[in-house]
Amino acid sequence: MKGIALCGFMGCGKTTVASALSQKYNLNHIDTDKFVEEENQITISEMFKLYGEDYFRDKEHEAICILCKCCDYVLALGGGAVLFPRNVKALKDSGYKLIFIDTDFDVIKKRLENDKSRPLLKTNDMKELYDTRYPLYENACDIKLSCNDESGEQLADKIIETIAKEG
Ligand code: S3P
Repeated sequence: MKGIALCGFMGCGKTTVASALSQKYNLNHIDTDKFVEEENQITISEMFKLYGEDYFRDKEHEAICILCKCCDYVLALGGGAVLFPRNVKALKDSGYKLIFIDTDFDVIKKRLENDKSRPLLKTNDMKELYDTRYPLYENACDIKLSCNDESGEQLADKIIETIAKEG
């Protein structure tokens, strides 16, 4: 295994778990959205507004290709990344384990209730998006971890234990 990539719906806890993994297990962690923003000197929100979603998806793909070639990382992917086979292929070909952070809709809904930073939530029904995407996350991942009451640290432990067991 080369690295760990965390996927799942917006607000599922990918960034929290990535940061817990990095602190507890001394692993480098990167948020692909942050990387896209820094590389392009523009926020994701602005990118959607000025250039549209397809443009963002190309930048997201570029970022994933760069990051998975570099070195061992914990990657917190954007919520839509693994819906695109080219990203899943790039990650798996590079030896990344894909972990689906499976958080219940009600928990996510509460967390994102007042969120203004995610462009897709302005134009889509959250529940519809969640239901459509759920099987795609399941399909893309190597490991699915339920994550509702657990802390980031507990999930980090669970991930490391599961990977050690499953190889
Ligand atoms: C997206 C999720 C966002 C960000 C972009 C698109 C999605 O990341 O990549 O707004 O398609 O679900 P988070 O999952 O970190 O919110």
